[in-house]
Amino acid sequence: MRFSTLTTATLASVSLASARIIGFSAPSTLAPNSTFTFNLTTENYIQRVADVAVSWGYTLPTETNPTGYKYSLGSFAESAYLGPDRSNIITGVVVNATVPVGLNSSSYFGKDVVLSVAVTSLYGASGGPVTQGWNVTVRIGAEDGGEWVDSGREGGWIENGSCQ
Ligand SMILES: *[C@@H]1O[C@H](CO)[C@@H](O)[C@H](O)[C@H]1NC(C)=O
Ligand SMILES: *[C@@H]1O[C@H](CO)[C@@H](O)[C@H](O)[C@H]1NC(C)=O
Ligand SMILES: *[C@@H]1O[C@H](CO)[C@@H](O)[C@H](O)[C@H]1NC(C)=O
Ligand SMILES: *[C@@H]1O[C@H](CO)[C@@H](O)[C@H](O)[C@H]1NC(C)=O
Ligand SMILES: *[C@@H]1O[C@H](CO)[C@@H](O)[C@H](O)[C@H]1NC(C)=O
Ligand SMILES: *[C@@H]1O[C@H](CO)[C@@H](O)[C@H](O)[C@H]1NC(C)=O
Repeated sequence: MRFSTLTTATLASVSLASARIIGFSAPSTLAPNSTFTFNLTTENYIQRVADVAVSWGYTLPTETNPTGYKYSLGSFAESAYLGPDRSNIITGVVVNATVPVGLNSSSYFGKDVVLSVAVTSLYGASGGPVTQGWNVTVRIGAEDGGEWVDSGREGGWIENGSCQ
């Protein structure tokens, strides 16, 4: 009884893997011109989601906008394709990135900056495009590393055709 239940569950998760991206985590210190990875965090979801692309950028925090600006990624924006091979992965999606050389300037080096990440996905049979954004604050320093910081899943922004 127990054995057959486990087998069924395992088969189901292999054949029907469905997950959506709910945030990201990144190293808390980034060095200009170094390569680093950040992880898109996923959770099980009731339907398969077609993730299209991830994009990211950097903003200096201000008193009125300590975590950047909604619907914006900031300077030095870059992007990468996700597509079917990198969608619906319950263990998360690792993204390779290079820290912009421009962050070596005195405006950024040694300071906290907001790393904003957005993911565009197609939902449902109608393929409704949704773009969702999250952020973390990182320090621009001499070497990548430090504790990883997590965006959390709430509180970012969402651009969604169903919201009028
Ligand atoms: C950035 O890194 C690349 C590859 O490691 C290197 O060729 C280049 O000289 C570096 N640029 C600067 C400004 O240090
Ligand atoms: C960053 O700037 C410092 C001097 O201000 C320089 O020594 C270093 O090579 C620069 N690094 C990169 C990656 O441009
Ligand atoms: C992110 O993924 C990489 C590669 O799988 C892993 O080395 C790292 O520990 C992960 N970090 C976090 C905070 O999940
Ligand atoms: C990310 O970089 C690692 C190590 O260089 C490489 O094995 C992996 O294929 C890269 N992933 C993508 C999606 O480019
Ligand atoms: C950044 O993320 C936090 C939650 O960690 C959220 O409260 C804040 O609204 C986000 N900032 C923007 C500009 O979306
Ligand atoms: C889009 O917005 C509608 C209305 O707010 C909401 O019901 C729906 O869950 C949203 N879709 C996604 C994928 O967030």
